Amino acid sequence: MSEETKPAPAPAEKAAAPAATAGEAPATPPKPTVAKPGSKQTLTKPIAETGNLWMTRRNFLSRAGWVAFFSFVGTMLLGSLRYMFPRVLFEPSTVFKAGFPTDYPVGAVSTKWVKDYRTWIVRNDKGFYAIFAQCTHLGCTPRWLEAEGKFKCPCHGSGFTMEAINFEGPAPRPLERVQIALAEDGQLLIDTSIRFREELGQWSNASAFLNYA
Ligand code: FES
Repeated sequence: MSEETKPAPAPAEKAAAPAATAGEAPATPPKPTVAKPGSKQTLTKPIAETGNLWMTRRNFLSRAGWVAFFSFVGTMLLGSLRYMFPRVLFEPSTVFKAGFPTDYPVGAVSTKWVKDYRTWIVRNDKGFYAIFAQCTHLGCTPRWLEAEGKFKCPCHGSGFTMEAINFEGPAPRPLERVQIALAEDGQLLIDTSIRFREELGQWSNASAFLNYA
């Protein structure tokens, strides 16, 4: 076959990359380098990857900002609500009905109302009186000791008779009595806000003792 009749080379062969010449290593893509801490070496990471990292930080900062904002708004709202509900100390009423006289045996001290109203009710053969359960030394709440027939303060040992007279310990004066009366429905009516002190001669007040034969 003559040269004139030889077929032309295929275009793919023309476009192929130049082959490595004999003795040369084949070309390899450059490796990404990582900057060492503190060095000024330029990162060669892909831009898209670097951009994602930056966006993640931005998202984090953005969310933290929103959290702080809503926390602030919530605190302000709670503060505003607090002013709509003024601080009021709800204390139990000082006036209460203590049941009917027949509920109380003669010669007994009733501790039924100590927990809620800090008051003992005592019935003797002439009637009723009510004692405020607060020690006249430093204000502790004494206990009624049935077996010993006395009120005993657990703080410093003051003792009081069934009539509320101090007879031992540091208490300087008798316990105080409180107002007692009969309500319209026949129940005992107590008001612990009205007190009577023995050393001031107030136990003779008509409201300090309820005659009930
Ligand atoms: Fe009761 Fe001191 S408070 S004895």
